[in-house]
Amino acid sequence: MGNRPSKISKLSKLSSKLKKKSSMSNSTSSSTTLSTLSDHNEPLFKFENGRRYIDDDTVQYLLPNDDDEIDRLQMQHYLLRYIWQSNFSAPVKEILRCGAKVLDVGCGPGTWTLEMASDYSRSHFIGIDIAPIFPAEIKPINTEFRLQNITNPLPFDDNSFDYIHMRLMLAVLREEEWKSVVLPELFRILKPGGYIESHEFDFRIVNQGPCMKKLVEGFIQFCKAKNMNPIVCPNIPGYLQENGFIEVNVSKNSGHYGSSAGRFGKLALEDFILVFDALKTPISSILEINEVEYQALLDKLQEEVDANDTFYEVYRFIGKKFDPDD
Ligand SMILES: C[S@@+](CC[C@H](N)C(=O)[O-])C[C@H]1O[C@@H](n2cnc3c(N)ncnc32)[C@H](O)[C@@H]1O
Repeated sequence: MGNRPSKISKLSKLSSKLKKKSSMSNSTSSSTTLSTLSDHNEPLFKFENGRRYIDDDTVQYLLPNDDDEIDRLQMQHYLLRYIWQSNFSAPVKEILRCGAKVLDVGCGPGTWTLEMASDYSRSHFIGIDIAPIFPAEIKPINTEFRLQNITNPLPFDDNSFDYIHMRLMLAVLREEEWKSVVLPELFRILKPGGYIESHEFDFRIVNQGPCMKKLVEGFIQFCKAKNMNPIVCPNIPGYLQENGFIEVNVSKNSGHYGSSAGRFGKLALEDFILVFDALKTPISSILEINEVEYQALLDKLQEEVDANDTFYEVYRFIGKKFDPDD
């Protein structure tokens, strides 16, 4: 762990180059640390193996929420935006231009929320997350952030949002929570005619070499032990339909790891390595290897993804709430 700060600052530089290369406009910094506790007095955090986590036994989230993780989430945002060349796919551009009410569920540091708020100044954006890693004070006037456990009933009226966005919840929600807790609640607060959009990563990574395969298998076992399904993408369209969403639409895109994909590939692999570095203790224990052997798996990944042309797929799922007046 001793080398993490230099790794992160290297990533921040690469990430800001990638950000410039992307054609989208953007108003937030990739490397700014946004964490603050100034508005919150609760004893929120616990520390394990030098990383910071939410101190709440009812929260299953697998990853930390410290400054290094905030940097990683911001970099990941730019990777995803680069892959899709956009921040969303739902047909909501026009209502966003005119003035819509938007919810970002599990918003993290709020990178997506802040960019969208800057692009659509007539719309109002609310980001909710269990961790206060979003900006508390310095934010656009059309943006607010709230601390909220998304597996609890949400403090919003029925039929009150035009558009709901939710990204990378695979290590957040148990399978049952997707189906029976979170999506029903999001359906309740979405206006008739409104859209929901969920973005997910597919852990069925294509052309995995042996080291990646071992790490991914460990991750899958870790998730399953917590009743989470990291291969949730095939199930999401069904979850949306079961909860009453109509016109369910699925789109898929991909990103390559490694040298063949230039700067993107380097950052995508760094993102993977940072996630698995954060999960070193539980996954090495599941794989019954020591941390030196685990580190050796991570160290071999660059060579392995180059040799195998490894790539991953990401999905966007869209659903609409029926409007009797349509
Ligand atoms: C992988 S991050 C994704 C963040 C953001 N959506 C993005 O794409 O950058 C998952 C987020 O879910 C949040 N989270 C985890 N459990 C949660 C819960 N029960 N309620 C609300 N947020 C939660 C974490 O704090 C983290 O910010």
